[in-house]
Amino acid sequence: MAKAMAYEPGTSILDVASGTGDIPARFLNCIAQDAKKTIMVTDICPQMLARAKDKLGANRDGVSFAVADGYHLSGIAGASRGHRSISIPSHSQ
Ligand SMILES: C[S@@+](CC[C@H](N)C(=O)[O-])C[C@H]1O[C@@H](n2cnc3c(N)ncnc32)[C@H](O)[C@@H]1O
Repeated sequence: MAKAMAYEPGTSILDVASGTGDIPARFLNCIAQDAKKTIMVTDICPQMLARAKDKLGANRDGVSFAVADGYHLSGIAGASRGHRSISIPSHSQ
């Protein structure tokens, strides 16, 4: 899925409930350096977002971070444009 979204036309990707940033990391691996796409990494939990920043690099070009509730994204710049992803793994017992 990350590959398909990374190659689709469109300049922005919003990842919701990013956790420690595994999904945005996959996007970054698929996107060409010069593709001029932006990725916004979001999570409701500031501590998780801090871990995502550590993993992805806080000052990486084209990547921004925001604490955000996935149910209330209207205040997030670009939330209504581009591609949105949300991934919450299910756990079986
Ligand atoms: C399983 S983890 C991360 C999953 C990650 N997307 C992945 O696939 O690896 C779920 C994350 O959802 C976040 N979360 C839970 N409720 C949320 C909400 N309403 N809005 C945004 N993030 C939320 C939690 O803080 C947690 O970091």
